[in-house]
Amino acid sequence: MLVLGLETSCDETGIALYDTEAGLLAHRVYSQIAVHAEYGGVVPELASRDHVRKSLPLIREVMAEAGKQLSDLDGIAYTRGPGLVGALLVGACLGRTLAWSLQIPGVGVHHMEGHLLAPMLEEEAPDFPFLALLVSGGHTQLVEVDAIGEYHLLGESLDDAAGEAFDKAAKMMGLPYPGGPELSRMAAEGDPGRFSFPRPMTDRPGLDFSFSGLKTFTRTTILNCAEDGVLSEQDKKDIAAGFQAAVVDTLAIKCKRAMKQTGVKRLIIAGGVGANASLRARLKAMAEELGGRVYYPRPELCTDNGAMIAYAGAQRLLAGESSELAVSCVPRWPMTELSPVQPHG
Ligand code: KG4
Ligand code: ZN
Repeated sequence: MLVLGLETSCDETGIALYDTEAGLLAHRVYSQIAVHAEYGGVVPELASRDHVRKSLPLIREVMAEAGKQLSDLDGIAYTRGPGLVGALLVGACLGRTLAWSLQIPGVGVHHMEGHLLAPMLEEEAPDFPFLALLVSGGHTQLVEVDAIGEYHLLGESLDDAAGEAFDKAAKMMGLPYPGGPELSRMAAEGDPGRFSFPRPMTDRPGLDFSFSGLKTFTRTTILNCAEDGVLSEQDKKDIAAGFQAAVVDTLAIKCKRAMKQTGVKRLIIAGGVGANASLRARLKAMAEELGGRVYYPRPELCTDNGAMIAYAGAQRLLAGESSELAVSCVPRWPMTELSPVQPHG
């Protein structure tokens, strides 16, 4: 089954062609960083307009690279939520219309299910059950995955998401948008031990997270260090390193606790923050210590992309699911509301 995947939930236009036999044939991601950079964050209306401009050219590029025609498609998958409603509507209208005009099924995919299944696109994919650490700009969740669509929430952030915390800390330090990758680059050259960042909620039981305290600690540290409101480059690097170490430590402690609590030894990491090299190395070492294993998508499939949507959609299309003709997007959509899908042979 050849499936076209469209991801337009936020500030990346992701288009991909996935074949259930041959795997990922082609994918393209257009990032809107330049559009939003001067505003220091995503401007929803500008995001929607840019998705309108970029979707069709990217579809043509992906089809050409794979040597396929629209008439070769067996199904279309588009992100239905959660995300920015205007941005979602662009992909959903396009996907639904294309599916209708080609007389093939179209399916609306949950963005976080896409992230969660992205490791399945790699050669060494995990078997079920596994634990998933979903760390993106909008979500921080620990989920037990028994099968596709069978998700049990073990813990989540009570306030900021991990990626959001990275972005806010970076902004306070005057780093350009998007802050996460930029902050992690600075952290690589800093001393993580110079400032004693807290490890929020690790000294009490449970698997929930909280990152807003790290934001406050970052703000206070900046105020204490800055001379005439200006931070030195070394201060920035040390704050970045201390901040990143605190987030990575906190996530690792909770993942270790979840693995011990459930007895599940396979852990996947997905979502934009999953591209963070320090987090990847730390979780790999932690899982191996417990006799377990970590799986993660290549960094370009951790951040938003169309391949994960094509893959997740293909599983649901194979099971006979498709969405109705009326386009509906859901800005807020708990993943636990999804229905189970029987894995195909
Ligand atoms: O999954 P994603 O691309 O979009 C959402 O669904 O939110 O995640 C984006 C988030 C942003 O907050 C970004 O700063 C963060 O992932 N991020 C990183 C890194 N790369 C992306 N955070 C830390 N280190 C990175 N290398
Ligand atoms: Zn995402």
